[in-house]
Amino acid sequence: MKIKTDILIIGSGIAGLSLAVKLADQFEVTIITKREAVETNTWYAQGGIAAVLSSVDNFNSHVQDTLTAGAGLCRPQVVEKIVRDAPRLIEELVSWGVQFSRQSNNQYDLGREGGHSQRRVVHAGDMTGNELERVLLDKVKSLQKIHLFEFHSAIDLILADKIRPGEEKKCLGAYVYDKNRDEIHTFEAKATVIATGGAGKVYLYTSNPDVATGDGMAMAFRAGARMMNMEFVQFHPTCLYNPGGWALAANRPIPEGKTFLISEAVRGEGGILKRTDNTPFMEKVHPLKELAPRDIVARAIDFEMKRRGDRYVLLDISHKDPAFVRQRFPNIDATCKLYGFDLTSGPIPVVPAAHYFCGGIETSLEGRTSLEGLYAIGEAASTGLHGANRLASNSLLEAVAMGDYAAKELKNKLPRMKQMDLAIPDWDPGSAVSTDEAVVITQNWDEIRRFMWNYVGIVRSNKRLKRAQTRIKLLKEEIKDYYWNFKISSDLLELRNIAQVAELVIESALKRQESRGLHYNLDYPETVESEKKETLLVS
Ligand code: SIN
Repeated sequence: MKIKTDILIIGSGIAGLSLAVKLADQFEVTIITKREAVETNTWYAQGGIAAVLSSVDNFNSHVQDTLTAGAGLCRPQVVEKIVRDAPRLIEELVSWGVQFSRQSNNQYDLGREGGHSQRRVVHAGDMTGNELERVLLDKVKSLQKIHLFEFHSAIDLILADKIRPGEEKKCLGAYVYDKNRDEIHTFEAKATVIATGGAGKVYLYTSNPDVATGDGMAMAFRAGARMMNMEFVQFHPTCLYNPGGWALAANRPIPEGKTFLISEAVRGEGGILKRTDNTPFMEKVHPLKELAPRDIVARAIDFEMKRRGDRYVLLDISHKDPAFVRQRFPNIDATCKLYGFDLTSGPIPVVPAAHYFCGGIETSLEGRTSLEGLYAIGEAASTGLHGANRLASNSLLEAVAMGDYAAKELKNKLPRMKQMDLAIPDWDPGSAVSTDEAVVITQNWDEIRRFMWNYVGIVRSNKRLKRAQTRIKLLKEEIKDYYWNFKISSDLLELRNIAQVAELVIESALKRQESRGLHYNLDYPETVESEKKETLLVS
């Protein structure tokens, strides 16, 4: 099947959906998404969206907090613009029907999270992402010019110069695998937007859902787009410890690596981190204690666990009024109970887990990538807002801001864009056959995630990074071989993508000869002024 559209958006989180809504008055917009449309990182977001909305707060403070967390690598003009636009973007979401939590006087109930010097996080209880996806998807489904294809995975971008050598390097759309029909379709577009989110599944332990396999990042890199700051992977300090096994109350299996996020807002409301002997430890680490920037808290937890040989640390909010805790964190409370823990009556075991990619496809503030015709927004992109470490709740903000800016850019640019006179060939399956060896995929998948966790995690060293580099090169060769010989499946596509993203993280980490923000290397423990530069990679 061949589908022609004005704009192809790959991904259905807050970035892609908000962009689609803003374009649908003028253009035919096609969204493809690889599972049900709600199954995105956005859906699982708990914390909220950072914005200056209180009379005691100001833009300079939000800008400064973002720059401080970013450890010298934020692009200041990007930070300034997004922070100043945040209140307008929140009001727009409210006008579309998003219901953020409010106090009895109808003011927003602003939450506090790590690295913020003020309460400035608008949230919908502890399920902000659910609320955003609900409203945005309703809106998308009500708009005639938006066509939503679920269970469609992008395989690779279509490039003009690959079809006709000598042609300019331009993205013309994507080849897409339709899982339900087991077919590959051609989606041709004047502009293609990657909004595929992050890649937490590159690591064994992650707060992200299964869909977070870095598909957009990997595809863009393969197509020749420039990648930025891929070494800066944020580990959320507090995910519920899960050694695998059974969720007690639910009596259902929980696979190893599946972790549940315990929002930073729990620490924002007074949660204390303790060693397993019940002694607090953040006091001596940072003046902001539990609310220090995430890289510092995650490293402090990692240090305590390694020093003591413990498998987790404790997070304790049981000194707070149980009624308040239950009302503020209904979803966290209910999920902890499923695992056999009660937030209100004692500490819960927590561990850090891969949470967010600060790097990604390098873009301008309009979402333009280095490849003509290709845009990127949301976690898949790297705009310079987060630098070397993202400030809590700046990610949904960036996603909705970039949806806004990319919409303005495309509205301006698209009417002047000419269709290329190039006939795009259908996908060529070659001599690929069905495989009876699916175990190759699971084996490679597990191997990558485990060595990324052990060698390219919170604390790195040259030796660990080199080991990871050797392994990823071998595995990539094996996966390439497999990819060309066997028929496409969703699992194979995701494996190919996590291997690509893993390699990008390793190569970027090896390039940085210092420790900065989220990248900590035992062989270069200091931050070095001459290394204060973005890491760029091109295929
Ligand atoms: C959280 O609720 O702790 C996650 C928020 C974020 O990652 O910004």
